[in-house]
Parts: sequence; C-alpha cells; structure tokens
Amino acid sequence: MRPLVLLAILIAFHCVLRNCFCTSEEDKVLSITAVTQEQVNLLQNISSHNEACNTVLWQPASPSHITANTPVHLYVQSSSLARVTEQLQTHGFLFRVLLENTQRLIQEQTRNDTTDPKSSGTNERYHSLEDIYHFVNKTSEDYPDMTKLILIGSSFEKNPLYVLKLSGRRGPVDKAMWMDCGIHAREWISPAFCLWFIKFALTFYKENADITTMLDKLDIYILPIMNPDGYKYTWTTNRMWRKNRASRDDSFCVGVDLNRNFDANWCTKGASSNPCSDIYCGQYPESEPEVQAVTKFLRSHKDVVKLYFSIHSYSQMLLFPYSYTHEQIPNHNELYDLVQEASSKIRRHYRNQYRFGSGAKTIYIAPGGSDDWAYDQGIKYSFTFELQDRGQYGFLLPPNLITSACNEAFAAVKTIVLRVLEKL
Ligand code: ARG
Ligand code: ZN
Repeated sequence: MRPLVLLAILIAFHCVLRNCFCTSEEDKVLSITAVTQEQVNLLQNISSHNEACNTVLWQPASPSHITANTPVHLYVQSSSLARVTEQLQTHGFLFRVLLENTQRLIQEQTRNDTTDPKSSGTNERYHSLEDIYHFVNKTSEDYPDMTKLILIGSSFEKNPLYVLKLSGRRGPVDKAMWMDCGIHAREWISPAFCLWFIKFALTFYKENADITTMLDKLDIYILPIMNPDGYKYTWTTNRMWRKNRASRDDSFCVGVDLNRNFDANWCTKGASSNPCSDIYCGQYPESEPEVQAVTKFLRSHKDVVKLYFSIHSYSQMLLFPYSYTHEQIPNHNELYDLVQEASSKIRRHYRNQYRFGSGAKTIYIAPGGSDDWAYDQGIKYSFTFELQDRGQYGFLLPPNLITSACNEAFAAVKTIVLRVLEKL
C-alpha cells in the first residue's frame, strides 16, 4: 500500500474513534416526522448511522425512542446531507431544515468577549469547564459565611466534582435540597442555570423574599457540573457529545450515559448495553465515578435532603418519577399538582410553555435515571427539568436566551420548593 493511502486510512480510522471532524460549516439540523411504521423503521436506521457522527440524534435521545407523528431532530453532517435528504425524499418523509447555521451558533456560544461588562457575570454567556471551577472557587471565597465547597469525588479523567452548599445567615437546619446540572455534556444551558442560581441566591439573599425563605429554611446543595469530562469534550472536540468519557478495553466506543447508570431498574427497556449507543447504561449500576460520587453523597445525606432536582435540556418539560416504569408513584397526584402549578407560573409570567408529568408518560421510558433513583431512596420530591428551548436552537441555544431560560427555570424551582416547604 502507498504511504499516503495508509496515512489517509489511519486518519480516517482515528477520526472515527475521536470524532475529530464532527462539526463543520454546512451541517444542518433537520426536523423529520415519520408517519407510517415503515418510515419509523427507516428513520431509526438512518439515525443510527453515527459512525464519525455522520448524524447525531438530538431528539429523542436514541433511535429506539422514535415513534410515528413525533418530530425527530437530527443533526446531519455536511458530508452526509445529500445522502440523507435523498433517502428522506425517496421515502416520502415530511421534513424541514430546523437549523442552517450550526457552525455560527457554535461560535456564538463559545465566544468569550470579556471586554463586554455584561458578559463578565454568570449570565448571557456560557462558561468553559475552567471558568466553572474558577466561579465556584471564587464564590466560596467571596461568601465564606453562606457557602461551603465540598469535593464529593472525581470524574473518569480525574476532574474534581465540587458541590457548593448554600445556606442563609442563620443557625443549622435539618432540611436540604439538591440540584445537579450538566449530567449530559451537550446540554449547555444546564450548568449555566446552576451558576445563575448560585449567583442569584447569594446576590438577592435578604432582598428577594422567595430566595431568602429558601436559604433560611433549607441548605441548598448544588453540583454545577456532574459530567466535567464530557462537558470539556463539547468545548474542545465534539459539541454534540452527550455521555461521559469513560473508555473500556473491549470497545472502541467511549462514554456511558450517566442518566442510565443509576441503580433504578438499570439497563432495562429504554437503555442500551451497546457501548456505542448514546444511551449506554455502563457495565453495571453505578459503574461510573461521577454516579458513585453523587449516590454516595446523597446516601449519606438522605435524612436531610427532601427535594431533588436534575437539570437537563432541551424540550421544556417538568418531569417527575417514574421514568423506568409506567406505574405511578404513591404521591403522583401531589407531584403532578406541583409541576402543573410551576408550569402555569412560567406560562403566565414568561409566556412560555412547559409540558409536565411523569417521565415515562411525558417523554419516554428510560431506566437508570437519577430522579427515579433519588425517589426510591426516599426523596419524595424528585424532579427532572428539561429547559429551553423546544427545538428552534436545541442544544445550541444562543447566549442571549440564557437569562430568560434561567428566570423561568428558577420560577419553577421556587414554586415547587416554597410549596413543599409548607408541607414539611
Ligand atoms: N432527557 C432525559 C434523559 O433521556 C430525561 C430524563 C427523565 N428522567 C429519567 N429518569 N429518564 O435522560
Ligand atoms: Zn439530558
């Protein structure tokens, strides 16, 4: 074989493994709706061709969740666009281009114009992993009387997992809430919300009545980034990455879906045992260090933690358990009323629609999730939020929408927490 050919093969092979050509100028996101069962099968087939990320499924999380008459959002690499659109046309699919300018949006999201005073805070721009660590460290120094920085473990690549504990200026309390962000790497609005929340809480304590009540009655544990390795990878290499970055000896594929790795009906229908899948459940329940860190912390704080929130995006939904079964939890009606009230708050104050209900009924059956696990540990107020938007920008939500996304998410958190505080 000629050396150049060999080199080309090596590069191609390397890129299959490393996703190095993942995003380029002409990539597009398509919204595709299957109507017939034949089309469903075909679309599942098309969206599974993600070697070297020719296509990346944005919605739903996995081809197996594709059903008739529900729009599928598919990121298609420029090199595959002709092939994919031709296939869609031949088989009579309804589809349209959802996003044309993905590369511009990615650039916009990673821009760091520090000269702009508005962007030096936590809002209106996204933060790199380094910036996030800097922010939590700095915040714990600036507010020594209201915060405590807790190292709960480290990731596969040995990045630290920091929890910031927020408390009002008062004596000890026996109740707490937990919130984690950034389980899924590409959902950038999620860690942005955790940072926004921290900043808001500390800035407006004793000024805003609701946050004051929350901090006076509860300790608030916040894990701003649960999947630091994946998040870093979305900044450096592949913006569309979802899982962590764990590698194993017996597969070329990297990463476990941390929200399928919890010990809650682990790896049954709605998760995959294929390491190449975006919903890969891992080798065994809690196999991942990120999941171990969270479960260890929550187990040892079980008696005080009354509320659990996990922040994701996108699709605008307020979910509660179960996701691993269609069965209803004992306090289904109670949680249903809570998310209904939160959703109508958002509709009234922010004119935005959030769907709500149990995970299995509202989105899809998915086992091994953190919310279901927390619930089964006895944390009876357990929620997963899917923040903005509903697909217009998807994971590429422009920075100028961060504030509105955070404001409405906070309205939902606050509505639920204040209601639950009345009951505890
Ligand atoms: N989009 C999230 C996921 O696929 C939904 C999480 C809902 N909760 C759950 N336990 N699946 O992970
Ligand atoms: Zn997610």
